[in-house]
Amino acid sequence: MDINIYKTSDELAEKLSDHIINKYLNKNIALSGGSTPLKLFKALSRKLDAIENEIKFYWVDERCVPPESDDSNYKMAKSFLFNSKKIKKENIYRIKGENEPSNEVVSYSNTLRNNLELVNNIPAFDLIILGLGDDGHTASIFPHELNKFKNETDCVVATHPTSGQKRISLSEKIINNSKEIIFHVTGSGKKHVVDNIINKRGEYIKYPASHIKPDSGGKISWYLDFQAAENLTK
Ligand code: 6PG
Repeated sequence: MDINIYKTSDELAEKLSDHIINKYLNKNIALSGGSTPLKLFKALSRKLDAIENEIKFYWVDERCVPPESDDSNYKMAKSFLFNSKKIKKENIYRIKGENEPSNEVVSYSNTLRNNLELVNNIPAFDLIILGLGDDGHTASIFPHELNKFKNETDCVVATHPTSGQKRISLSEKIINNSKEIIFHVTGSGKKHVVDNIINKRGEYIKYPASHIKPDSGGKISWYLDFQAAENLTK
């Protein structure tokens, strides 16, 4: 496990976008939502403007809302990443949050199985970028639905614990089947959960993020800013 710590979230976004460009220009990548990816998307978009590429973009999760909604993870990527002239529309495989969730989990699973290499009969991404909630959730799997993460299906319908919002999320087995998994985490609000997960402290076992362990020889890396890594460096 690699732990990369940067002074600021801006410096982190620069380094992580360089890593993606160095290793994944013609590969399959799954993106997360939330606020943390914004700086990464902007840095990547700026750099990709000058680089021919065949990056195929997928999602780790999506909110069950239309693509025009401000809550849509697709909309955020469209606004800040896909404004890059060199990203091809045909290489964007979004989760259709507007569809009936139990139908979309099947349809997105088919999209993954028709386009990704299968390793142990499980779709295998080249890179998955995960966020982390201060409650230990990742993708759209929250602690109250940890059992769902273990589902045998490729994708699951999940529920936000307070808003009740429906979500579509990749399951644990697909995430752990990825060749590289990166936790992209910034801000002091995450320092406790980061420390608990990396150092297996406190209630870490109840956190879905603690169940991310690449199998099939995959690699896991943490990209943290000083604030998120504060308890690690004490
Ligand atoms: C989502 C995400 C989710 C996110 C965390 C962290 O759709 O909300 O994929 O897993 O990564 O909630 O969110 P922040 O980056 O906003 O802290």
